[in-house]
Amino acid sequence: MDLGLENKVALVAGGSSGIGLAVATELAREGAHVAIGARDPQRLQAAVANLQQLARGGRITGTSLDLTDTDAARRWVEEVAADYGALHVVLVSGSSPPIGPATRFTLADYQAAVERVLYPAINLALAALGHLRAAGWGRLLFVASETAVQPIAPLVLSGMTRAAIVRFAQGLAADLGPTGITVNVLAPGTVRTPPIERAAARLADSGSGDSAIEARLAAIGAHSALGRLARPDEIGAVAAFLASERASFVTGGVHLVDGGAGVVGPELAHLTGTAPDTFT
Ligand SMILES: NC(=O)c1ccc[n+]([C@@H]2O[C@H](COP(=O)([O-])OP(=O)(O)OC[C@H]3O[C@@H](n4cnc5c(N)ncnc54)[C@H](OP(=O)(O)O)[C@@H]3O)[C@@H](O)[C@H]2O)c1
Repeated sequence: MDLGLENKVALVAGGSSGIGLAVATELAREGAHVAIGARDPQRLQAAVANLQQLARGGRITGTSLDLTDTDAARRWVEEVAADYGALHVVLVSGSSPPIGPATRFTLADYQAAVERVLYPAINLALAALGHLRAAGWGRLLFVASETAVQPIAPLVLSGMTRAAIVRFAQGLAADLGPTGITVNVLAPGTVRTPPIERAAARLADSGSGDSAIEARLAAIGAHSALGRLARPDEIGAVAAFLASERASFVTGGVHLVDGGAGVVGPELAHLTGTAPDTFT
């Protein structure tokens, strides 16, 4: 399938690692020009070098910036559009809020989560709109989480900020439909990226080796229909499709990519092994 992404200009926020890097990889492989942004300059440089190796004709650049600095983020969008002469695809990935249930957090924690996750997404989208309109074609994609689709009690800050991103994206989609710009939200389940690997290492017994960490990762992934974690490229593939010409009738959607974690439902240990007629 020709995705029609050749020579399109894509800006990928949070593109030096994990899901953002996987999306940047797919777009570069499709022949798009890709500008990635993230904070750590070394990791950024390494990602740019990798993307340049696999790019199919497109130019790859990287900019070190903190997406919570709204002025810096707006400047980045302007610089990319000026440097490449246009902007067509914007993908917003980036930071995650802290994990924990609703009563653990103070008002300041809720405010910080909004500053960290929601405002950067809104700011980047608004900054990009004029350029997408000028191009007469655009794809805005937000990386949210499965928490945007269903409540997960220990991930309240993720759920709150991602639900807000969904409504923002849907509002944009409604306004922008006639302009040829589509707006979509990705809702990944658990993906094997560096933060998940670090979490598994923390959960594994101290001093235990790689096999204990792999066992933890496998246990985290087990609770889905497919019974494993997602690979970042599996999210990147869906994002590349949504960014493509072929997804021209897809807008305002929330795209759950969770390996069927949602259809399996929560872990109900008390039901395991009980007779079918015990609960009616
Ligand atoms: N992995 C999962 O299982 C999963 C599932 C659902 C949703 N998500 C969401 O997907 C997004 C990406 O997660 P990931 O697992 O791919 O994480 P990751 O591998 O740590 O990638 C995060 C990327 O965003 C950049 N970033 C983070 N904060 C930033 C900031 N303030 N300014 C600029 N760049 C920033 C990071 O680079 P620097 O740190 O150098 O800035 C990195 O490039 C997060 O919002 C996460 O909550 C992840």
